[in-house]
Amino acid sequence: MERTFILLKPDCVIRGLIGEILSKFEKKGLKVVGMKMVKLKRKQLEDFYSHHKEKPFFEKLIKFMKKTPVVTIILEGLNSVEVVRKMCGTTTGREAIPATVRGDYSMSTRMNIIHAADSVDMAKKEIDMFFKQREIYDYKKPQMSFIYCEEELEGEIKKRKFGKPRKIHKGEPTLSTA
Ligand code: CMP
Repeated sequence: MERTFILLKPDCVIRGLIGEILSKFEKKGLKVVGMKMVKLKRKQLEDFYSHHKEKPFFEKLIKFMKKTPVVTIILEGLNSVEVVRKMCGTTTGREAIPATVRGDYSMSTRMNIIHAADSVDMAKKEIDMFFKQREIYDYKKPQMSFIYCEEELEGEIKKRKFGKPRKIHKGEPTLSTA
C-alpha cells in the first residue's frame, strides 16, 4: 500500500482541530501507520521547506511553523498521496473547495491547517525526515475488505509478492473463490 506524509500545522493544533482533521482521513479509510508530535527546529524547517527558500514568505512561514509543536502522520492506502492531496484542497483556504480540509477549516494561505506530500517520492523523503523505520507500524485492520474490493486488495498482495500489479481476468479464481 502506498504511504503518504501529512503534518498538522500550528493553527490546527492551537484551534483544537487535531482530532477532527485526523478523523476525516480515518473515516475515508486511510490507515494511520505512524504519528508523533514534534517541536520543529529551524534547521529541520529549512530542510523541509528548502524548495521555498527563495520565496518572500519563507521567513514568516518558518516563524509560524515554530509557534507550537506540530503533528506528523503517515497514512497508508491505495493511491494515498493523490487521495490525501485532493482531500486537503488548494493552498489558500479561502479559495479551497468546501468539504476539503482547507475549504472547511481555513481562511488563509500560510495558516492552512495541513501539509501533505505532493508526490510519492516527496512522501518517502518527508517520511524519512521525520520517522525512524521502527516508528512505522505494520498492523492488520479487519475491516479492510469493506474499504477495498477484493480485486483492489489482490492487486496489492500480488504487487508485494511479484513487484507489479497484474490485471485480473474475468473468471480467474481469486483469493475468495479459489
Ligand atoms: P504547504 O503545503 O505546507 O507548503 C508550503 C507552505 O507555505 C504552504 O503550505 C503555506 O503554508 C505557505 N505558503 C505558500 N504560499 C504562500 C504565500 N503566498 N504566502 C504565505 N504563505 C504561503
